[in-house]
Amino acid sequence: MDLESIRKDFHALSEGLIYLDNAATTLTPKPVIDALTSYYAYYRANPLRSIHLAARKAEDKLNEARHTCANFINASEKEIVFTRNTTEGLNMVANGLNLGEYGGNIVVTALEHHSNLLPWMRKCYKEGRELRIVFPKRSDGVITVDDVAEKIDEETLLVAFTHVSNVLGTILPVEDIVKVAHEHNTYTVLDAAQSVPHMKLDVKRLGVDFLALSGHKICGPTGSGILYIRDTCFDKVEPVFVGGGSIVDVETTHFTYAEPPSKFEAGTIAYCEAMALADALKYVSQIGFDNILSHDKKLIRLAHELIGDIKGLEIYGPSPNDKTSLLAFNINGLDPSEVAMILDSTSGIEVRSGHLCAQVCTKRVLGQPNGIVRVSSYFYNTEGEITKLADTIKHIVDTMVL
Ligand SMILES: Cc1ncc(COP(=O)(O)O)c(C=O)c1O
Repeated sequence: MDLESIRKDFHALSEGLIYLDNAATTLTPKPVIDALTSYYAYYRANPLRSIHLAARKAEDKLNEARHTCANFINASEKEIVFTRNTTEGLNMVANGLNLGEYGGNIVVTALEHHSNLLPWMRKCYKEGRELRIVFPKRSDGVITVDDVAEKIDEETLLVAFTHVSNVLGTILPVEDIVKVAHEHNTYTVLDAAQSVPHMKLDVKRLGVDFLALSGHKICGPTGSGILYIRDTCFDKVEPVFVGGGSIVDVETTHFTYAEPPSKFEAGTIAYCEAMALADALKYVSQIGFDNILSHDKKLIRLAHELIGDIKGLEIYGPSPNDKTSLLAFNINGLDPSEVAMILDSTSGIEVRSGHLCAQVCTKRVLGQPNGIVRVSSYFYNTEGEITKLADTIKHIVDTMVL
């Protein structure tokens, strides 16, 4: 597929900006925006509620979307809970999962986004459990299965970890970690926010019990996301929200839950967004993860090649072979936010700076009190854009670093 030609689908790219902040949120292509608009125009009746024709039409479309989402990660439809984003999905698990009596420990990694750290930190605090944080032994921030295995013991109840670090792009060995965790009978929770845009996810192969992702990270609408709950875990999770649509029977003293996924979807969900999320997943699938991966590799190798040798600049994280298309760096003596502002104001290059909602990683793993600069590309970025980024960084270093 000619990736250059699909740039026309993205309005922001026609404005001359160089958008390299895709790990924060991706751009939404016109076909997905059109689909979303059409759902608001032609499918505007509450699905799973009324029995009139319009509501049934919306319900059919929503069921179709759930089917697409389930296929996309190789789950069954009842295992797909529509959420607003990854954060909501992870909080639903942390707040709803019954881990039994007080005590025991929960294992996370030092690379976690706050969305996959704070819910567990709070759960440990509330439930009297120990939070164990796995720090990488390698200086490039790679976390191995042995690093994680060292923290897991007979007292471990759950292991929550990211698939891909949003700071370094590091890819964690999910299947190996899940194997060790399950040997110790613990639950496994995967934060797939940064992996879903770049690699084919298969929950059966990965073997995790829970997985959360956000639609806006993969060309979908904001306010759309998926929480995968493995069917064997359904009765271990109490829904955080109760209300309309999540029950089958209510009396004055008690109520009976509906079957999943409705049990976990109380209230009117963002159904137009959920429908358009399915369109986004189809759009990205058509491009193909093999194409996305090889494009990712091409751009990240080029970035390392052009930026890696610049004096006065430090790159963090592993080599291009061991990560997604993400480059974390600092320029000596300059605040990361200053660098991001100069890139934007002088060349229209948009990148992220600071702690990236992962302070344990930026401060404790990388030792950077003000965080880092992050460049993150997607399939619509070009080699020309990376070259312009490198030229601008060189210029900043030449003119501002003493
Ligand atoms: C690894 C990771 N987890 C979780 C999140 C939270 O995603 P959201 O803000 O869509 O809930 C992000 C967002 O950047 C992320 O990168």
